[in-house]
Amino acid sequence: MLAGDAGRPLAGRRAIVTAGPTVEPIDPVRFLSNHSSGRQGYAIAEALGRLGAEVILVSGPTALAAPAGVTRVNVQTARDMLAACEAALPADIAVCVAAVADWRPDGTGLSKIKKGDGPAPPLTLVENPDILATLSRSDRRPRLVIGFAAETNDVEAYAQAKLEKKGCDWIVANDVSQPGVMGGTENTVAIVSAQGIERWEKAPKGEVALRLARRIAEELK
Ligand code: CTP
Ligand code: CA
Repeated sequence: MLAGDAGRPLAGRRAIVTAGPTVEPIDPVRFLSNHSSGRQGYAIAEALGRLGAEVILVSGPTALAAPAGVTRVNVQTARDMLAACEAALPADIAVCVAAVADWRPDGTGLSKIKKGDGPAPPLTLVENPDILATLSRSDRRPRLVIGFAAETNDVEAYAQAKLEKKGCDWIVANDVSQPGVMGGTENTVAIVSAQGIERWEKAPKGEVALRLARRIAEELK
């Protein structure tokens, strides 16, 4: 890092950020997905870029423009998202913010299911790959791997369990039972790691993103 890079402590670092929903085809005209807007992930990609990181934003379909200076790779399915993340390795940082569909419809989905006279067709689901867990256990593992968890009830205990299950370094836990968090502009998060829990006060989502990016820079110093 050069002396003039004080405001860009992540200069020379490469980060992968996943964001948005994934879309899992049932057939050529139908799909399974979720309501993720991608806002949180895009804000984090932007904040990492502002601090000087080279950012690859692997994104499912959203209505958002790519933040300036960030390289966006557009994907549809969880399997595409994993392949794009693996193609983006090596990296120093991975932040998995995407709302990955846990399951996808079984089968090729190549021909449209027709409405016949019989009963409704069965929808068989198979589990999707876990991108966060795969990156965490990769032989090209980024030095810092971070996941998100939107939980209700015992938020920190669930986050601790997820940290272990996924093998990542931090889980950013988010209490979505608090009014105004889902789809809102502010967020209250806790950073859960093997070192313990850091509880951050409520702040606009862009500020949470910048604070997280600064915390990441601190960790990689
Ligand atoms: N995640 C992922 N790939 C998946 C599922 C989840 O990368 N197939 C990541 C998310 O991006 C997030 C973290 O794992 O960073 C936690 O996601 P979450 O949905 O809370 O965890 P799950 O293990 O899927 O458990 P559940 O949905 O049952 O709470
Ligand atoms: Ca899930």
